[in-house]
Amino acid sequence: MAARELVLILDFGSQYTQLIARRIREQRVYCEIHPCTVPFDQVRAMNPRAVVLSGGPSSVYGEGAPTVDPRVFELGVPVLGICYGLQLIAHLLGGKVEGASAREYGHARVVVEKNEGILHRFAKREALDVWMSHGDRIAALPPGFQTIGVSGNTPFCAVGHAEKRIYGVQFHPEVVHTPRGADILAAFLFDVAGLRPTWTAGAFTEEAVASVRARVAADEHVICGLSGGVDSSVAAVLCHKALGDRLTCIFVDNGLLRQGEAEQVVATFRESYHLNLVAVDAREKFLTQLAGVTDPEQKRKIIGRVFIEVFEEEARKVRNARWLVQGTLYPDVIESVSFKGPSAVIKSHHNVGGLPEKMHLRLIEPLRELFKDEVRAAGEELGMPKDLLWRHPFPGPGLAVRCLGELTEKRLATLRAADAIVTDEIRAAGLYDTIWQAFAVLLPVRSVGVMGDERTYEEACAVRAVVSVDGMTADWARIPHEVIARISNRICNEVRGINRVVMDVTSKPPGTIEWE
Ligand code: XMP
Repeated sequence: MAARELVLILDFGSQYTQLIARRIREQRVYCEIHPCTVPFDQVRAMNPRAVVLSGGPSSVYGEGAPTVDPRVFELGVPVLGICYGLQLIAHLLGGKVEGASAREYGHARVVVEKNEGILHRFAKREALDVWMSHGDRIAALPPGFQTIGVSGNTPFCAVGHAEKRIYGVQFHPEVVHTPRGADILAAFLFDVAGLRPTWTAGAFTEEAVASVRARVAADEHVICGLSGGVDSSVAAVLCHKALGDRLTCIFVDNGLLRQGEAEQVVATFRESYHLNLVAVDAREKFLTQLAGVTDPEQKRKIIGRVFIEVFEEEARKVRNARWLVQGTLYPDVIESVSFKGPSAVIKSHHNVGGLPEKMHLRLIEPLRELFKDEVRAAGEELGMPKDLLWRHPFPGPGLAVRCLGELTEKRLATLRAADAIVTDEIRAAGLYDTIWQAFAVLLPVRSVGVMGDERTYEEACAVRAVVSVDGMTADWARIPHEVIARISNRICNEVRGINRVVMDVTSKPPGTIEWE
């Protein structure tokens, strides 16, 4: 297989850095984000084929402004500076940066002056819609640089040094508001840097399988916590391909799963994939420990603790276990090495509570280089079914965060039945793939209703459906009224314990997606 060609993205703290990486990956080129503070020796050792300097909130003249070792410009590989990255190029190579009279933020138009370098794919005088977000701007170019694109407010909007293959843009080609941004990045990657689009799902699964196989010795065994979610499922199937029966997957039924979920996970992975799967029925243990608890944080803590206890007990039974598989994804890796400092938030499902240290297990994270869409592509490459790969996210603490108030088997059964109806109708209406998450929430609120001639006094159910790109922000999904009507009718008619259905029309922020 061809050696992997790396594009190195040095991060100066822009909110868009991750998007740069995604846009480059979409061009089928492998890239990694590293903080701008990474020592130059390491940069050289990575042997990048091109370097991108990200944007950032600082001013190059500001106190403690992040910078880059100027030897980056002597590596002999193309460099692209975006916004702050461009200002840094100007600053370090002998140009001049000044504070713009006004902060330029939002839509702008750039006219192509010279259709060369990164603007090679456009016509001369062509006008491009771009997205600006900057305070400072270039006042004088460094020697050898030329202007290739101008905007009304920014004369040095796109610049380059053709011989040294150093380019810079004041705008953000990585955001959707720069519709032709992909052509600019493609010109940089393919025309300027001469890279090839070799980073494909096939290439990375093949490489990942080989790497897992090479790391694990022939007599060693590997443990994987399988939740049935996309990440752990793809990680498990990939490791199974590498290791066969030396991989043991542990699936814990905590009693907080959706309708039919436990049976489905076991059937899929045992029967279709022949995975060595240990399914632990820990429903009673979880529900006993959760009895009487209504505080959301306390519920989460108990679930986390019991999960670790159950998982550890099973893991200890696996003979010669030396490794633990985790479904860590690239956004988590980026967060932990971020220029802004390690993230304080560790997602609970990526955290098996110190088990690796306690059991002396080393970690295998086969997906740690991938974005979510790439995980799905890898899953497809491994022949996994589409409905598994495109499942809505489901939180680690499961229905506990959707069953407000006390968790009893009866209330959980009620919630499960209502939730199944929501999913059913959303699927039937063909909306499942356009919605990020859709589910039911059971509220510990009773109200009066009437059914036939009888007065009822039952709990209420909220329907939550959101659209989102990454779960960080979300808007409530505009589901057609007829679909909502069907959901509501069916829940009230078919589910015992609910006599009222309400719709959650809160975006995030200010709301969260889950209710607890
Ligand atoms: P919120 O409710 O914070 O949710 O807007 C954002 C996304 O994260 C999921 N979520 C969780 N996932 N453990 C998880 O594994 C959790 O404790 C947890 N809480 C929320 C939620 O489903 C949504 O996709």
